[in-house]
Amino acid sequence: MKNDPNAWWRQGVIYQIYPRSFADSNQDGIGDLNGITKKLDYLQDLGVNALWLSPINPSPDKDFGYDVSNYLDIDPKYGTMKDFEHLIHEARKRDIHIILDLVLNHSSDQHRWFIESRKSKNNLYHDFYLWHDPAKGGRVPNNWQSVFGGKGWEYVPELGQYYYHMFVKEQPDLNWRNPTVRKELLDVFRFWLKKGVDGFRLDVFNNYFKDARFRDNPINRLGIRPFDWQTHSYDTDQPEMLPLLQDIREVLDSKPGSYAVGETFMGGVKMAAKYCAPGLLPGTFNFAMVRGAWNARTLQRKINEWDQAVDEHSWPTQVMGNHDVRRIATRLHASQDDQRLKQAAALLLTLRGTPFIYYGDEIGMRDIHVSKADLQDPVGVHYWPLPLGRDGCRSPMQWDESEFSGFSTQKPWLKVHPNHTQRNVNQQRSEKDSLFHFYRKLIHIRKENEALSQGMFLPLTYDPLFVMAYLRQTANETVLVVLNFNRRKMKFFLGRELANRNWQLLLSSNPEQETTLQSSFLQLSGYEASIYKTI
Ligand code: NOJ
Repeated sequence: MKNDPNAWWRQGVIYQIYPRSFADSNQDGIGDLNGITKKLDYLQDLGVNALWLSPINPSPDKDFGYDVSNYLDIDPKYGTMKDFEHLIHEARKRDIHIILDLVLNHSSDQHRWFIESRKSKNNLYHDFYLWHDPAKGGRVPNNWQSVFGGKGWEYVPELGQYYYHMFVKEQPDLNWRNPTVRKELLDVFRFWLKKGVDGFRLDVFNNYFKDARFRDNPINRLGIRPFDWQTHSYDTDQPEMLPLLQDIREVLDSKPGSYAVGETFMGGVKMAAKYCAPGLLPGTFNFAMVRGAWNARTLQRKINEWDQAVDEHSWPTQVMGNHDVRRIATRLHASQDDQRLKQAAALLLTLRGTPFIYYGDEIGMRDIHVSKADLQDPVGVHYWPLPLGRDGCRSPMQWDESEFSGFSTQKPWLKVHPNHTQRNVNQQRSEKDSLFHFYRKLIHIRKENEALSQGMFLPLTYDPLFVMAYLRQTANETVLVVLNFNRRKMKFFLGRELANRNWQLLLSSNPEQETTLQSSFLQLSGYEASIYKTI
């Protein structure tokens, strides 16, 4: 697999676009496909190999695209099928792959299948979804909860039955045990592969199956939401998933070079690793770095754990942000000098595994503050005033300093961050030491140096207090990465073996850093990230 030319994603960097918020070409306040196409030169210059587009299928937007009403079409607010074909074509010219988001755990309640399904118990489509008779006294069939608030069951009086929805009630869960559903959904993969896409991001894939007997989940936990009080033994991660993934893999392999990354729902490293394996998925997300403490010790532990968990024939992913969580700059309370963000970028882009960059993180975008009246995300609305909503990280891309940040000339669907007047693409492209240029150089050196794109990961520090260091190594070259998590200067001692080698600087966030390593230690400035190479 290592030398497989079709495994482009092993060497690639993937950039996630939230299409509503990237670029608005028809000036209606919502981003669109032609907007993305216009920005392909920017993305090529940044150096990314693939774009993951959050869902672009028709959707009533109860969960902003994650409620799909037709899997085989493009939502008119994003453009037409022709626009999409044009985007694929233009992206390919620039060596950029396109990855679609497939939301197949549930559809929209406006999907033709569900509209039919709820007509009668005898309808051909009834069994496409998870219907259940009421429990005694008309109560819900079991204790399963919706992640987005309230019970997981919705009663339909005309049928005298409940249907199950893990997310909002307008997102009924599909019945993957029904062979017709299975076939229809596998055909969705085939349809888009034929159209020319290079892969998929699979929304909450390990939720596809639920316990066939609908048993109650055990209750034995603490948490903010009733959903968190349960151990999810029966509503997620069922054994039927493994054979299904083999079928999905077969479909992917029918077109060499097709990638898929699964969004592992709720599981930790072990679960992500279980599914990211030969014959199963080429990639899964491990969200360990997306949340939790940000310090050398915790990160080193998480990184080692993930690196060891993924089989040597498989390939990890690395992710620090997405459309569901606070942006990295917000999480770190990063200061305006961007030193910590450069360090986070250096970490993301020098680890073993495919890095995912969330749009706007390359210029250090922060979450917007959304008042109650302006909330869009159903999660934010349901749990208000708890800060669980996801609008903050979905604000319009900051292209320039103009009123709507160059995203649109019309008022956008979500407000633009007020800091766009100083923090935007135009401004950062013109400053040679900006965060944007640091990302760009990191992506570049990752491509140029096989140790960084393909090499083994060898940690040099164990339980570090402030300085994390590791090697990336192939038979031909070695790269040394040193990251200082302290705001004060620190020394990193190389040890005799490493000190005797001839190290050349590839990139540093400290403009004063030595270009060769001459002594037995490396002097690091506060929050410095430095990367050296030897052959
Ligand atoms: C995970 C997606 O990332 C999230 O945005 C969405 O709300 C849920 N799945 C439901 O599709």
